[in-house]
Amino acid sequence: MSRRVLLTGGASGLGLALVRLMADRGDRVLAVDLADDRPDTIPAGVEYRRLDVRSQHDWDAALAWVRAEWGGLDLLVNNAGIATGGRIDVEAISDWERVVDINLLGVARGCHTVTPLLKEQRSGQIVNVASLAGLVHGPGMASYNATKAGVVALSETLSFELSPWGIDVTVVCPAFFRTNLHESFAGKDAAMQEAGVRLITQARTDAAAMARIVLGGIDKRRKIVLTEQLGRQAYLTKRFARPLYERAMLAQAKRLARKAGQDPAEFLP
Ligand SMILES: NC(=O)c1ccc[n+]([C@@H]2O[C@H](COP(=O)([O-])OP(=O)(O)OC[C@H]3O[C@@H](n4cnc5c(N)ncnc54)[C@H](O)[C@@H]3O)[C@@H](O)[C@H]2O)c1
Repeated sequence: MSRRVLLTGGASGLGLALVRLMADRGDRVLAVDLADDRPDTIPAGVEYRRLDVRSQHDWDAALAWVRAEWGGLDLLVNNAGIATGGRIDVEAISDWERVVDINLLGVARGCHTVTPLLKEQRSGQIVNVASLAGLVHGPGMASYNATKAGVVALSETLSFELSPWGIDVTVVCPAFFRTNLHESFAGKDAAMQEAGVRLITQARTDAAAMARIVLGGIDKRRKIVLTEQLGRQAYLTKRFARPLYERAMLAQAKRLARKAGQDPAEFLP
């Protein structure tokens, strides 16, 4: 059945790949992103508008468009996001503010804006793209991890809160895959960001493959979509074999400290 879909960050990476899949199968899609002009990459037949997820004004305008043109909405995908990486004493608080505004408040604004319409309809689905980083929290990426954990918490909360209105909420938690996400790194911790760039640009999975997995989870209306074996393993290890998880994370923290020039002889046990 054709669905009416509003998707943020639709001009690149996972968002664009989802837009293509949804358009191919006959969904009506409104893709939104930062560019004023319609990007060439957006497929024919897909609507495009500028929407900065930081702007409540932009959200209100998109909702007005959806009400006027479609008279309702079946699916909101809060996909837009940026990457940050940084050790707590190196990354600037202004970088924290920027990533919270986009990755966490951007998602909250989307949910806040469309929920009255979905409640009126007594139907609909909200999909929030978090990350595996929202479930397992490795060292050196506190700001990104915190925003994505916030998205996981927001999604779980709404999955309960909105269920009496027949509204489903899904949170998507992928590990690294190849997109343009690394281009959004901006901040003071160059060493951490270098590692992040490598993990994204050298990931095995590309955005198109990831989008197929994600869409499968969306269609099944899963509460959490874990997209690969690595993610499932990491999440289950944290829940059911905590000492193993702690050892792996501590080893990672020591590698990071060594790279940052701290003498291993000075490490506390
Ligand atoms: N690529 C990965 O390894 C990875 C892993 C886990 C989760 N994610 C998440 O997947 C989502 C999509 O990222 P991607 O990897 O496709 O990256 P991408 O950079 O290719 O796409 C992100 C899109 O979001 C848009 N965007 C950024 N700030 C915005 C704003 N303020 N308002 C509106 N749009 C904005 C960008 O213009 C871009 O088109 C993000 O939430 C990201 O955190 C990515």
